[in-house]
Amino acid sequence: MIVPPATLGMLGGGQLGRYFVMAAHRLGYKMVVLDPDPASIAGAAADHHIVASYDDQTALHDLASRCAAITCEFENVPAATLALLEQRKPVRPAASAVRICQDRREEKAFLREADIPVAPYLALLAEDPIPAQASELFPAILKTAREGYDGKGQWQVNNLDELATALAGSGVPCVLEKLLALEGEFALTLARSPGGAISALPLVQNWHSGGILDQTRSPANAPALESEAKRIAEHLIAALDYVGVLTVEFFLVGGQLLVNEMAPRPHNSGHPSLDNAECSQFELQVRALCDLPLPEQIAVRPALLINLLGDLWQNGTPDWAALLALPGLHLHLYDKGKPRPGRKMGHITITGDNWSTVEDTCRQARLLLGLAPR
Ligand SMILES: Nc1ncnc2c1ncn2[C@@H]1O[C@H](COP(=O)(O)OP(=O)(O)O)[C@@H](O)[C@H]1O
Ligand SMILES: [Mg+2]
Repeated sequence: MIVPPATLGMLGGGQLGRYFVMAAHRLGYKMVVLDPDPASIAGAAADHHIVASYDDQTALHDLASRCAAITCEFENVPAATLALLEQRKPVRPAASAVRICQDRREEKAFLREADIPVAPYLALLAEDPIPAQASELFPAILKTAREGYDGKGQWQVNNLDELATALAGSGVPCVLEKLLALEGEFALTLARSPGGAISALPLVQNWHSGGILDQTRSPANAPALESEAKRIAEHLIAALDYVGVLTVEFFLVGGQLLVNEMAPRPHNSGHPSLDNAECSQFELQVRALCDLPLPEQIAVRPALLINLLGDLWQNGTPDWAALLALPGLHLHLYDKGKPRPGRKMGHITITGDNWSTVEDTCRQARLLLGLAPR
């Protein structure tokens, strides 16, 4: 067990890393963040910020020397970086698990192998001829195998011509996925300790807009789906021999849960846990990394989350004073600098004792923000 005031290391310095720093600090740990951006918001919150690229060997050795254990806030840290650090200190999640989550082809192959339903798909390479089975998937979404997020690196294609153009344009390995009629989107965030103990947050329901998360309901209030999602996620996290926090995204199609993708980290849709849960997803990440006991049950209050994208700043700064006057509203701003359309600048979580109050406050908040009702 790694106990405070040990120093923990974080690869990546965005808002997820920043919340990890805050959770670690609250428990009495010291923090080092490695991120190439001198303006990294997690770097600013940490005790020490190593400004270096993720493959800078000298910087990685410096990180390993300073820390008792290391984790990451995003899946695109090179697996070779994690493998190098593993030779010196505990790295959780391990390179072998992150490697699978950072490539949609490997992820889907792993899910199929584990007998977990996924959307019908094909792995494609720009330089190879398009296989005939592609026609069975239209209308479809072409997704780059690596580095996509918030709907980036995705194109809807309706026929072979559109597919050929999009694939050539991408120039990288992709997966082609059938466009599904989604009855709902859900996510489950869970943690696993080095000894194999598992602790899960309640299932949440998500609503996306243009491929970016817009609103989350925690808990989803769907007991049958929640137990099925837990069964699937617990099976996956054990099959990956995963240590740390993992989020599994689900599609509901024809009453069945399919796994969309896995994130080897806390997740935007887990942010309600900062305000409505006895243990947040970031405290779970600290606990799993340090091998502290994981909570058996995590009780939550009703909560709705609204993401604050840079688009909201187009007509001036949102009216924080009016928003903060709403009961049960928790404002989170990430201090990220310039608001750009599609950029996640913060979020709001509305908590309360019952759903009707929370939903009512959420409607008022969306109105004040100029967002369409949900
Ligand atoms: N096969 C699909 N059918 C219908 N909608 C999809 C499909 N794949 C993705 N989407 C929509 O796009 C969103 C983002 O896609 P996802 O694969 O999760 O990529 P990202 O890595 O950007 O989160 C999903 O949450 C969902 O709303
Ligand atoms: Mg996703």
